Amino acid sequence: MNIAVCPGSFDPVTSGHLDIISRASRLFDRVIVGVYTNAKNDPLFTLDERLTFIRQAIEGDRTLSNVKVESFNSLLVNFARNHGASAIVKGLRAVSDFEHEFQMAQLNLKLEPKIETIFMMASTKYAYLSSSAVKEIAKFSGCVDGLVTEEVKIGLKKAFAS
Ligand code: PNS
Repeated sequence: MNIAVCPGSFDPVTSGHLDIISRASRLFDRVIVGVYTNAKNDPLFTLDERLTFIRQAIEGDRTLSNVKVESFNSLLVNFARNHGASAIVKGLRAVSDFEHEFQMAQLNLKLEPKIETIFMMASTKYAYLSSSAVKEIAKFSGCVDGLVTEEVKIGLKKAFAS
């Protein structure tokens, strides 16, 4: 069985993340979405909220029945190895993503040569999208329709209600 891990902080999950998860689910027998506990920069959403938003987005979609969502608080390669994964799948949006992702991919390969990092090009309509941008737009009451799920939209509204 070919298993992939899609890792991230998912603070919060965006339509761009969900696009990569869905495309990975067509290539692999099983996809584990790994939500990193220690999201950098003081996450807006708790780990439970971040997990729930992703689970809400995939539940009820039969094409995503091979996707599971779990948290991890360890080296990514250890999480991937413990799940029997042969690949780490990540999305690449722009050249600016490349340097950091290249470094992480090299280090992960050094730590665990049996696990490959595979990059998928972000779909054009999400090439500009990031969790940070979504948070900034929501903070100033901008429209995030289509960028996140309805549940995340409600969560953002609550988080920035004053
Ligand atoms: O969504 P993000 O914040 O870009 O995701 C980063 C993540 C979670 C993939 C990365 O920080 C990670 O893999 N963390 C786990 C710890 C680890 O393995 N670090 C070494 C990578 S070289």
